Amino acid sequence: MNENIVSKIEELKKEKNAIILAHFYQPAEIQAIADAVGDSYYLSEIARDCKEDVIVFCGVQFMGESAKIMSPQKTVLMSSKNPGCIMAAMASEKAVVEMKKKYPEALTVCYINSTAEVKAHCDVSVTSSSALNILGNVENKQILFLPDRNLGGYIAEHFPEKEFILWDGCCVIHDRVDEKQILELKEEHPEAKILVHPECRKEIRDMGDFVGSTSGIIKYATNDDAQEFIVATEEGILYELERQNPNKKFYFPGGKGVIKCKDMKKTTLESVYNTLLNMENEVIVEENTRVNALNALLNMHKLSEK
Ligand code: 13P
Ligand code: SF4
Repeated sequence: MNENIVSKIEELKKEKNAIILAHFYQPAEIQAIADAVGDSYYLSEIARDCKEDVIVFCGVQFMGESAKIMSPQKTVLMSSKNPGCIMAAMASEKAVVEMKKKYPEALTVCYINSTAEVKAHCDVSVTSSSALNILGNVENKQILFLPDRNLGGYIAEHFPEKEFILWDGCCVIHDRVDEKQILELKEEHPEAKILVHPECRKEIRDMGDFVGSTSGIIKYATNDDAQEFIVATEEGILYELERQNPNKKFYFPGGKGVIKCKDMKKTTLESVYNTLLNMENEVIVEENTRVNALNALLNMHKLSEK
């Protein structure tokens, strides 16, 4: 690691009273210098509760936006230029407003992987680690879920008594994980357990010994007796999997570089340094949008705690 730039980042952090938050999909050298690393839910809590004035969010835009929505007094900076989320871009505000008109009775539930403008029209937000708890705590029978048809399908399987209307969006990176890739790995490593993120298609989820969020996958691999795992999610998770389990082996469908989110990989040590030095890539959420979107995030925290 470049010690020089890391110590410069540390100095800037003190000077600006900043905290660095990183998602498990970030490059290893970024996770190594972050003050907190986690899944979307955990990071949203840290962003809400931290005492620092400045948050450098090493992740994608919707994560920074969620931090800003909950803590408007903090300066939220993205660690790279325009780190978008392909899935969040699949639901526009206009299309969501139109869809809601068709289902006036439905509770509108958005995956946190959605824009602030979309959240502003939703009743509650969920993450992959909190979704099942949250849906278990709502009475509504009809649910309009967006934008991920895969996570939505996974949740719907757990609530057969509810009617789910699923938006036709997905994370293309998770959606293209292929059964054949997993079967090939399983043939090479018959003892390996299969761990799947719910953004994968049903065929892949059904192959899983475990289905869950990034933090759930790490916990399962750490607590389970198996020594080998096939991991169907973005490969950045390998850093934490290996850090907690140095003697276990992890394999990714398609091999290295296949399940890779380019936007998550835009962060570099240099980009973190420049972000802090120049206070650039600031997340701005229009105030009316922020106030409306806050409701969905407050409900997320409230309903997942019950
Ligand atoms: P987690 O909340 O499981 O970390 O997932 C975030 C994400 O973007 C997955 O693609
Ligand atoms: Fe979005 Fe997919 Fe990247 Fe997650 S992995 S941030 S869902 S594009």
